[in-house]
Amino acid sequence: MLTLESVTKRFGGLTAVRGVSLEVRRGDLLGIIGPNGAGKTTLFNVIAGYYRPEEGRVVFEGRDVTGLPAHAISRLGLTRTFQIVKPFGNLCVADNVMIGALTRLQRVRDARVEAERVIALCGLGPHAPARARALPVGLRKRLEVARALATRPRLLLLDEVMAGLNPSELAGIIDLVRRVHAEGVTLIVIEHVMAAMMRLAQRIVMLHHGEKIAEGTPAEIAHDRRVIDAYLGDEFNLAEA
Ligand SMILES: Nc1ncnc2c1ncn2[C@@H]1O[C@H](COP(=O)(O)OP(=O)(O)O)[C@@H](O)[C@H]1O
Ligand SMILES: [Mg+2]
Repeated sequence: MLTLESVTKRFGGLTAVRGVSLEVRRGDLLGIIGPNGAGKTTLFNVIAGYYRPEEGRVVFEGRDVTGLPAHAISRLGLTRTFQIVKPFGNLCVADNVMIGALTRLQRVRDARVEAERVIALCGLGPHAPARARALPVGLRKRLEVARALATRPRLLLLDEVMAGLNPSELAGIIDLVRRVHAEGVTLIVIEHVMAAMMRLAQRIVMLHHGEKIAEGTPAEIAHDRRVIDAYLGDEFNLAEA
């Protein structure tokens, strides 16, 4: 479904992503881990069309999308969420989600119906009339997912949607990610919450200094010496995660 061929993205003298290749199949739930500054968000920005890579190719469903603008890629069915959530703060939840739907649907009435479906799926029903900026962080993260889902992606990139949540908010968003995946959306998930990642992901890729240094099942990753040294630490225990 998605193929990255040796993608490199530089900011001046800094190489944020270096020669990363990746294959995502339809129905995958792929995790991306790595320390802060490893290049995870930059990789998402390259995939989703916010940055053009200096080298390499991004191929989505057989089409070379390298360098296409984000709105064009979103229309093809590939959307991302933002680590720093960016709702329209003055608008209510329902309108925020409807704007997502309007990227694909022309009629406001159709977009409203679609927004209602997504709001229900995301458990935001009771908050539909609330202003986005009034929501607590847990619900803002859900809204971010809802806005992305309203574009009807076949491939959705989630950037740290679990960061900074309390245990009950966390359980809610894990459940939501599972439901979205069960609906047939292929997912790539960046997350530091390892317990959640190890349970959710079918496969995990580790980035370090912009490079892919490991890839495997959660069990393989948890026992990979380079991953333990660079990220997890020796005290990490998969059985307890
Ligand atoms: N727009 C930008 N301009 C300059 N440097 C950037 C920009 N975005 C990210 N970087 C740098 O690229 C590296 C990777 O950042 P990022 O992709 O955000 O890492 P991660 O998401 O893994 O924490 C960091 O050193 C960061 O400072
Ligand atoms: Mg990041």
